[in-house]
Amino acid sequence: MKISIIGAGNVGALSAMRIAQYSLGDIFLVDIAKGLSEGKALDLADAQAVLGIDYNIRGSDDINSIIDSDIIVVTAGLARKPGMTREELLAKNSRILKDVCLNIKKLASQAIVIVVTNPLDLMTYLALKVTGFDKNKVLGMGSSLDSSRFANLIAQELKLPASSVETMVIGAHGEGMLPLARHTRIKGVNLEEFLSDEKMEELTKRTVARGAEIVALLGSGSAFFAPSAAVAQMVKAIAKDEKKTLGACAPLNGEYGIKDICLGVPCRIGREGIEKIIELDLTDKEKTELSHSADSIRSLLKQLSF
Ligand code: APR
Repeated sequence: MKISIIGAGNVGALSAMRIAQYSLGDIFLVDIAKGLSEGKALDLADAQAVLGIDYNIRGSDDINSIIDSDIIVVTAGLARKPGMTREELLAKNSRILKDVCLNIKKLASQAIVIVVTNPLDLMTYLALKVTGFDKNKVLGMGSSLDSSRFANLIAQELKLPASSVETMVIGAHGEGMLPLARHTRIKGVNLEEFLSDEKMEELTKRTVARGAEIVALLGSGSAFFAPSAAVAQMVKAIAKDEKKTLGACAPLNGEYGIKDICLGVPCRIGREGIEKIIELDLTDKEKTELSHSADSIRSLLKQLSF
């Protein structure tokens, strides 16, 4: 299995490390910055003897090295600066993504593409349109990260292990995300049994603001530990054909009553990419909020050119 990661910055390099440790295949790290991906690949390769795990990783500034990849992770682009929304990245990152996706189309037409670059929902849509790939083969990493953040905040509040919290965040990977308290369970028990409505509302707001909170604290760049963990989880689900249900930014074609945009929803992920979009039972209020989230993405889509 050939797994390429385009963009060897914080998220790309850490994703490479996690994918290597899962032993999922041969890893190719590509970055436009001369020497960066080669240096990081050498450093990662040097860890094998310490870890007691063998893997094959190479770095290059030549995009042609992605040829015939099975899975391609796209993290190329700029990260958010303090006070900057993901949407403000749109103009700059859409130019980078378009160029990268034309190369993917030319060099690796069989690949499954995982988009990580923000603004995620728009970049996933751009990748789908520019590559022209089937809609099961282009997905974005956002919802699973947001769900993990929500789970962590709930676990901290309840003083429980984060791994005991099962939750789902749907909608845009941005201000319009929808953490679903009603679909959250702790060891099978609904969250409503543990927390008041006010507390759930507060944790929901903190989840939406989590990315910005981290950006403000870092002072430069955006989150990378949790994002790379979510990327590696997605790559593993595909490479090992796990058929695992994960939140992913998926091209919608009528699911949830939404068409022709990409948005975060639960998906069954396996060797074919998105093998099924799972439609949760939403209340009227949740449906309205999801439709507002979709509208906000749709209005920004007009700024993209393909
Ligand atoms: N081809 C390949 N690599 C590129 C290109 C390109 N055309 N343009 C930029 N890059 C590389 C940069 O050289 C840089 O090394 O993308 C890398 C981005 O890395 P970081 O700046 O460290 O950003 P990171 O934190 O990894 O985030 C990447 O993921 O989570 C999102 O919002 C985040 O959009 C951002 C992306």
